Amino acid sequence: MELRTTPYRDEYRRQCIDLMSDTWNHNALFPGLTRENLVNELFFHEATVGANYSRIVLDENDRVAGYLFGILKRDSRGRLIRGLRTLGVIVRMLFHFLAGHLGPRRRGWKTAAGLLAMMSALESHRRDSDAFVSLFFVASSLRGRGWGKRLMEDFQRHCEAQGYQRIYLWTDKGCNYLFYDRQGFRRTIEVSSPLLAGYGDEPNGFAYVKPLTTESAAESGVG
Ligand SMILES: CC(C)(COP(=O)(O)OP(=O)(O)OC[C@H]1O[C@@H](n2cnc3c(N)ncnc32)[C@H](O)[C@@H]1OP(=O)(O)O)[C@@H](O)C(=O)NCCC(=O)NCCS
Repeated sequence: MELRTTPYRDEYRRQCIDLMSDTWNHNALFPGLTRENLVNELFFHEATVGANYSRIVLDENDRVAGYLFGILKRDSRGRLIRGLRTLGVIVRMLFHFLAGHLGPRRRGWKTAAGLLAMMSALESHRRDSDAFVSLFFVASSLRGRGWGKRLMEDFQRHCEAQGYQRIYLWTDKGCNYLFYDRQGFRRTIEVSSPLLAGYGDEPNGFAYVKPLTTESAAESGVG
């Protein structure tokens, strides 16, 4: 199979969401959803709206087989447009919430507040100067063949060329988080949340940092 990478374009959006939905099902967070894939759609928009780095893996039929989205905050290009698009996503979420598309509003509000608190805990070690991985995915049929590593290494090279010193991301037990341990990331935060996959006695949400060549591990605040 011939595969290639390309920056994201809107025409790939539906395929990107479908690919994600094959592995992740966030519907259980909002019982009473009026549309099956709505939470994954909102999740995709939220994760990609501020992204100014993207690589999509495409097969020979232009089918999406993987992707990595990143946010480089220091890049001022298009800051206004990104701000407006973020506002658009917030308005869209509010609309669905108020229209009752996310199920009973009281419960939906509690869940949304819990999600925001959990995300804020996982991002508490994130610096403005960090490069951030906002969404990273390889099709299940392609996993274990080096494409995840290639996407991450391309991102790392891009960040290093731009002078970034660390890559930051957060993940949970529903993801293949051991990939990050293997790729030289260090776990910097652990949380326990019923809103994340694999909730139990052990922590199920993790933040990871990877120091880049411009900064030594000792200086990175990892640990
Ligand atoms: C995470 C993900 C993108 C990795 O992509 P992938 O193509 O399967 O990974 P690769 O084949 O490139 O693996 C790269 C290396 O990591 C190792 N690795 C991958 N998963 C691993 C695991 N669970 N445990 C230990 N090592 C692992 C591989 O053995 C390989 O090792 P190498 O450097 O010695 O060659 C992919 O598994 C995925 O999409 N998972 C579901 C979604 C997800 O978890 N996304 C991340 C959300 S934060």
